[in-house]
Amino acid sequence: MTEKTVFETYPLGAITLSNRIVMAPLTRNRAEKGLLPSKFAATYYSQRASAGLVITEATQISKQAQGYQNTPGIFTQEQVNAWREVTDAVHAEGGRIFLQIWHVGRISHVDFHDGQPPVAPSAIRAATQVTVNNARVDTSEPRALDIEEIPGIVEDFRKAAANAISAGFDGVEIHAANGYLLDQFLKDGANKRTDEYGGSVANRARLTLEVAQAIAQEIGAERTGIRISPVSPVNDAVSSAAQEQFEYLVDKLNDLGLVYLHVVEGVTGGPRDATPFNYAALRQRFTNTVIANNGYDLGLAETQLATGQADLFAIGRAFIANPDLVNRLKSGADLASINPATIYGGGEEGYIDYPSLERA
Ligand SMILES: Cc1cc2nc3c(=O)[nH]c(=O)nc-3n(C[C@H](O)[C@H](O)[C@H](O)COP(=O)(O)O)c2cc1C
Repeated sequence: MTEKTVFETYPLGAITLSNRIVMAPLTRNRAEKGLLPSKFAATYYSQRASAGLVITEATQISKQAQGYQNTPGIFTQEQVNAWREVTDAVHAEGGRIFLQIWHVGRISHVDFHDGQPPVAPSAIRAATQVTVNNARVDTSEPRALDIEEIPGIVEDFRKAAANAISAGFDGVEIHAANGYLLDQFLKDGANKRTDEYGGSVANRARLTLEVAQAIAQEIGAERTGIRISPVSPVNDAVSSAAQEQFEYLVDKLNDLGLVYLHVVEGVTGGPRDATPFNYAALRQRFTNTVIANNGYDLGLAETQLATGQADLFAIGRAFIANPDLVNRLKSGADLASINPATIYGGGEEGYIDYPSLERA
């Protein structure tokens, strides 16, 4: 038997990826007026199309879903048209691209909601900050969603997924990680509801499962992936029962036949092992593709592939400064480092001017 390598092709649902390296979703806060993706986004993503799969920056499913300035949407026809240019550019380079769709929930500010509070499972403020008018400000205290409003949230997710397909995406990634709305429902630090959306493991998973089911019905389970971060505390996301909560969720997601489960291991962008968690238990429960993320380099990816821990490996930060990351990993070339000043916001600089090895 030949050994698996991260540089071999990989079948993901109905598509084939050119390798097992995935570009992780990266918010860059460069959206245009109307929350259209940046006019440079087609260039930016197509420069990175040699990733086996590109996952876009998190993209709002509705106006209510926004929590940061200049993050794009997928809920108007103009947004769909603008994203079409991105998907065409990536496909022209032979790449594959999924749209990450999100609702930020309480990680937001009244300025995005005409002075009204953002929505959340419960009226508990998250101890974190968002960017409004170029300044970091505390999040606003949210209001708890009425149970009657929940079908509307599921519907917004469903429509966003349909829009993504009409914009030419190969699929969508449901953002259920990093303390945003779905993760807020999943984690009991944020979810104190006493109706059927809170109070038990099954109830806390209900909204995420309803969203996953609606999207799988709309666009096909083979085009529907999901991202979770069971123990990541970013954005004040705390669970007292993470292992049980996420094992239950993954069992049910597996029943829905979703094409992939994308797991952020440890603290997003931080230590991988700060909180003990049995990721192998998720791997065993999910029969389709598992994408692992957080702090991966080639060596760690090869090890995890050999032991069967995951099928694909998502890399975030290194893709910002290394558009041809796959080529660099393959050839053992040095990696360029990021300019921290141009990560969030701005224009071309620090976005589409990082050269490939060839151009350098
Ligand atoms: C600038 C930046 C933006 C990010 N935006 C998103 C995002 O939109 N959605 C998401 O799920 N994760 C986001 N993340 C988290 C990354 O996808 C990834 O989980 C994290 O960077 C750890 O992977 P790495 O060690 O390969 O960088 C972001 C991280 C960074 C550094």
